[in-house]
Amino acid sequence: AEPQGRPPRGLDFKPVAVNTKDEVVVPEGYEQGIVIRWGDPLFPGVPEFDFDNQTAAKQAKQFGFNCDFAAILPLDPLELTGIMVTNHEYTSESFMFRGYNSANPTEEQVKIAWAAHGLSVFMIKRSLFSGHYKAKFSRYNRRITLHTPFEVRGPAAGSDLLKTSVDPTGRKVLGTINNCAGGVTPWGTILSGEENFNQYFANAAGRNDPRLTRYGVNGTATTRKWERFDKRWDLAQEPNEVNRFGWVIELDPNDPDSTPVKHTHLGRFKHETANVRVADDGRVVAYSGDDERFEYIYKYISNGKVKRGNSKAARRHNMTLLDDGTLYVARFKGDSPASEIDGTGKLPSDGKFDGSGEWIPLAAGTKSFVPGMTAEEVYVFTRLAADKVGATKMDRPEDIETHPRTGTVYCALSNNSERGNTGKEGATEPNPRVKNRHGQVLELTERRGDALALTFNWNLFLVCGDPADPNTYFGGYDKSKVSPISSPDNVAFDRHGNLWISTDSGGALNGLNDGLYGVPLDGRERGHLKLFLTVPAGGETCGPVIGERVITVCVQHPGEVDGASADNPASNWPDGGKSQPRASVVAVWRKGRRQLGEIG
Ligand code: FEO
Ligand code: CA
Ligand code: CA
Ligand code: CA
Repeated sequence: AEPQGRPPRGLDFKPVAVNTKDEVVVPEGYEQGIVIRWGDPLFPGVPEFDFDNQTAAKQAKQFGFNCDFAAILPLDPLELTGIMVTNHEYTSESFMFRGYNSANPTEEQVKIAWAAHGLSVFMIKRSLFSGHYKAKFSRYNRRITLHTPFEVRGPAAGSDLLKTSVDPTGRKVLGTINNCAGGVTPWGTILSGEENFNQYFANAAGRNDPRLTRYGVNGTATTRKWERFDKRWDLAQEPNEVNRFGWVIELDPNDPDSTPVKHTHLGRFKHETANVRVADDGRVVAYSGDDERFEYIYKYISNGKVKRGNSKAARRHNMTLLDDGTLYVARFKGDSPASEIDGTGKLPSDGKFDGSGEWIPLAAGTKSFVPGMTAEEVYVFTRLAADKVGATKMDRPEDIETHPRTGTVYCALSNNSERGNTGKEGATEPNPRVKNRHGQVLELTERRGDALALTFNWNLFLVCGDPADPNTYFGGYDKSKVSPISSPDNVAFDRHGNLWISTDSGGALNGLNDGLYGVPLDGRERGHLKLFLTVPAGGETCGPVIGERVITVCVQHPGEVDGASADNPASNWPDGGKSQPRASVVAVWRKGRRQLGEIG
């Protein structure tokens, strides 16, 4: 074991102080640079971004709005070049247009928003002596927008529930929406979760259809009023279009002409993310959480086995693995008496929030395991299926990733301000606090470490908040030495096996800015959480990629605080002066006199 107090490899930095600055703050000895900003051109000949003269045609060839997930696929062993893929989760029109009239958006404003959603694919490049990745034009560059054709695959493809007047086959969907987090597959493609799709569909009110209300599809007009310009956003005219969103998508960034896929076998809910682990026998499992208060954690196990290698043929085969298998949902059991889970976060007498659990099957191919629901219904209305089998209601399951060496599963449970409220479920051992503002990080170990296991053990690694609060927990570490943290959102690992966590707290912890944290998982330093960087006020830290020499993060919605808008900007990051804030990707690296230093 490492001697106490000595930081493990990869985490030898002095934590940054919590703050409310309008800048990205990095540790002493580190430098930073912008990789790409909202509106930056991705193709030759595309005009530079001009906030006051934006068009849909330009936006469709520029970096989209509100980058969330990011991945880097290295193109050389030194990681000097790579393909970067980012999600553009959603648009904030009042920050995109001066004088924006939300009651009456123009058609061009709506079309700009359609083009600002989706994903961006582009090459990044740095020099040997700098970590400053910069976006480049390349043959890989691509924009996925709300007009990009997707192939629907898996057992619900072609279902009547997915057919519309424009697509009577139920197999071809234009676009992807509200893509939040994602994952890189072992075969070099990208998975991305369609999250809060409900907010885009109008005229659900009065239908009293649990297949809509259970997903929060309700109301008459939508906030963005897209239904005025394309009937597919109007449930009264296209009742099934809503069923074509809420999936995990897969994109092959190596092949810019490839058709991206929607995988129905992973179920339909507010997917935060999906991440794949390969089992010893070559089958794959995918974990995904449904990010809403009191929602569930899911696992999928494939029937087929992964083909090794990075050939196009191998990728084509591996892209079918998520279309034939079994979908499960998690049920958690605590091992402490319920009377000891008092809702404050106080540890029970065994000293841990922990227990066991099982994966309950929902459907496999055309076979449903849920009474009263067909397999197609299970895939398209997965929340209703999981309700019926008694899955465990969690505190907003955000990102889920498996540790690259141990296979242990880490899930950020972001927060749940409604736990314990009237009519809502109270504290449970995996979700031990009522009115949970700050969230927790779950550690889940499959039985015998086997990815294919259907039972598991679990414990809470972190119970987040201000460490001065006695009812927080940092892996058992001395709380006088850790950084405060609220609302864990994304998780990632470095090559030393440390966990990195980025946050989306909306200022829940004393109004402080969100950030990126590193924490050891093993040995005497387990739980020694340190704040590595913070993002500008109003922003969220997303999509961390922890490289050997460079860390990148997405800064989403900088300056989005109450009362701010393009007419009254609260941030001028990253361009400074009186400029409008722009969601951007930032690279951070350690200064080196000759050659770039390793992180930490
Ligand atoms: Fe888009 Fe679950 O955060
Ligand atoms: Ca316990
Ligand atoms: Ca998220
Ligand atoms: Ca978030």
